[in-house]
Amino acid sequence: MYSFKNDYSEGAHPQILKALMETNLVQEEGYGEDDYSLKAIERIKEKLGRNNMDVHLLTGGTQTNLTAISAFLRPHEAAISASTGHILGHETGAIEATGHKVLSVESKDGKLTPAGVKAVLEGHPDEHMVKPKLVYISNSTEIGSIYKKEELQQLSDFCRANQLLLYMDGARLGSALCSKENDLQLSDLPNLVDAFYIGGTKNGALLGEALVICRDSLKEDFRYHIKQKGALLAKGRLLGIQFLELFKDNLFFELAEHANRMAGLLQEALTQTNVKFLTHSPSNQIFPIFPNTLIAELEKNYAFHVWEKVDADHSAIRLVTSWATKEEEVVGFIEELKRWL
Ligand SMILES: Cc1ncc(COP(=O)(O)O)c(C=O)c1O
Repeated sequence: MYSFKNDYSEGAHPQILKALMETNLVQEEGYGEDDYSLKAIERIKEKLGRNNMDVHLLTGGTQTNLTAISAFLRPHEAAISASTGHILGHETGAIEATGHKVLSVESKDGKLTPAGVKAVLEGHPDEHMVKPKLVYISNSTEIGSIYKKEELQQLSDFCRANQLLLYMDGARLGSALCSKENDLQLSDLPNLVDAFYIGGTKNGALLGEALVICRDSLKEDFRYHIKQKGALLAKGRLLGIQFLELFKDNLFFELAEHANRMAGLLQEALTQTNVKFLTHSPSNQIFPIFPNTLIAELEKNYAFHVWEKVDADHSAIRLVTSWATKEEEVVGFIEELKRWL
């Protein structure tokens, strides 16, 4: 059985494990004030090409989203998310549990547009309703699509004109930035969003996300928020060592490129056999539509999520590739598929 279920099925890239081993007995400060974390944060700022941002290392996506969003919002304020957004459907109401409603915008491709956000604003005109304040987007999105620079610029302009905060969930930012269709640079993001995170968990780290806060007014006391949410690790070095390894050279991007290349091979082969896709996804998650009978056959040798029913006889499945996906497994899957098709 080989799994295309997700990009966190394996542990960590060997280079990261090696760095953890080699530094194991070095004595360091706790709570993220160790040398590795400080250096990792400096490297991330260098890659961003700017020094005037705060970077915090946290352990997971849900934790980062709820710590950031609850810190950024006042009690009566709400977040806006695409209907497919992770905070809306897959985080156990974590944002709502901090007291902030998440307002949904129906989206077919996983992305938000100014028009969708505008409709939410129009539906919340006064103090008898929550006040929409933060726009949550993910890049790549939960269905593998990515934001083009122009789309993000338009959303950013709209948010600024309407005093909204723009927050990007970058659980799969590596895959988005390394997509063949991407025209955004990491260094563009501070100009376009108020805060975002760079996902490590799904891109070769054992765990870890690097939250970048760009807007000055959101920076104050953020370590207090992290600590209060139980997210300030005594052994914060574990995050620092991993992010230093990912950003010391180009490992972060190399790993994402590999994941995308594996997804690209799958996509190309499926397209050649006239398979249709649920959505256009130029990243490491693809959503081909298969007859249910074929899905049952594939499930004998491969693990993947059956994403949604398309009609009585067909469903879309989600295939995810990672930094660790073996090319021979991709080739094997394609061969098996061709036998059935
Ligand atoms: C876009 C996105 N954000 C956040 C998360 C949550 O991450 P975690 O499972 O580390 O809490 C995920 C997990 O799959 C995700 O896909």
